[in-house]
Amino acid sequence: MTIYAHITGWGMSLPDKILTNDEMATFVDTNDKWIRERTGIESRRIASDEDTTASLGAEAALKALEMANLNPHDVDLVIVSTSSPEHIFPSTASLVQDRIGAINAGAFDLLAACTGFIYALNLATQNIRSGSIQNAVVIGSETLSRLIDWTDRTTCILFGDGAGAFVLQANETPGGVISSILRSDGSGGDLLSVPAGGSKLPASMDTIQAGKHFVQMNGREVFRFATRVMARASQEAMEKADWNVDDVSLIIPHQANLRIIDAAARGLKLPLDRFAINVQKYGNTSTASIPLATIEAFEEGRLQPNDKIIMVGFGAGLTWGAVAAIWSGPLPTEKPVNFTAQRLLAAIRSRILRLYRRIEGFIWGRGKSA
Ligand code: ACO
Repeated sequence: MTIYAHITGWGMSLPDKILTNDEMATFVDTNDKWIRERTGIESRRIASDEDTTASLGAEAALKALEMANLNPHDVDLVIVSTSSPEHIFPSTASLVQDRIGAINAGAFDLLAACTGFIYALNLATQNIRSGSIQNAVVIGSETLSRLIDWTDRTTCILFGDGAGAFVLQANETPGGVISSILRSDGSGGDLLSVPAGGSKLPASMDTIQAGKHFVQMNGREVFRFATRVMARASQEAMEKADWNVDDVSLIIPHQANLRIIDAAARGLKLPLDRFAINVQKYGNTSTASIPLATIEAFEEGRLQPNDKIIMVGFGAGLTWGAVAAIWSGPLPTEKPVNFTAQRLLAAIRSRILRLYRRIEGFIWGRGKSA
């Protein structure tokens, strides 16, 4: 019996604050015309003090679970793909797992920069197809605005914050994620990085003064790399799925720069209207960009059940990859899950566990000193 991994739920979460190019030009030496012409970006969302990578990710995940009508208790695996985790550890995925009340799930972060969502989809799919799990939540969540040097016009204009999530579920009907290709070339690691704060360059006065905790990028080299790999990766995923380009209804590329998407379209000899594009509204939300563009395409009526789609990304690492999938939609379920109650239960349970741990620690501490 072959098991397939279907995309049965999806949800997104965006910070309320919209930062336009014109507003940006008030504090950094840039202008709306340059940004639009060179990138296609018109505005981006910026996390408020209350928003974090986990809070945005959890909200997107809960919406995706609600769409799939899947009880969080039935989730086996939570993967958060992010380049802006809340901490080096614990993983942002564990924080999300707690927030959504996925009490029976394993959770881990996946770092493959802007290609992360593609990698995460592949991992969740392989877990489901091997029969080891039934249900996974895959989340791409970013608050890259916290890692940006807001005085560096070559990077700060590009990035935005947000989160998107998919629920993947096992089913015997053919469909869902059909093929993936994942690639990496670490020889280009220095082209796009946050150099300090890891084990190689721990935080120090020197690293802070040198701005090494911010995103650093060789834009031209990354641009050249991206235009080389996008069409090729899409083509490889299609070949692996035994599809040709005419079978595909929609290509959903990583939203970094309209000119990169345009180059991919030319590489595949397809018109731009076969691509999902929302870079103008959100800028580059890194690993959140592919789910955000997919969900908006669905909301615009551009995705129907059984449509064949290609999701394709590139990013730091260097990494790149593509997924060929058949769009599914929610599986039929019998009993609606009460998500208001689930949200409340998850919050109460988390508090009780914290309190219990404090009381237990207090009792153990007293026992030791006695
Ligand atoms: N406003 C005005 N002028 C600017 C700005 C700005 N924000 N930024 C750069 N310029 C100037 C430069 O100083 C340069 O001036 P000069 O010719 O006098 O030296 C001129 O504009 C051209 O600069 P380029 O760097 O050549 O501009 P380019 O056309 O390459 O566009 C960009 C730059 C948008 C960064 C482009 O290279 C790009 O999109 N690269 C890919 C970046 C990317 O996708 N990164 C994310 C990867 S995904 C991930 O893992 C996070």
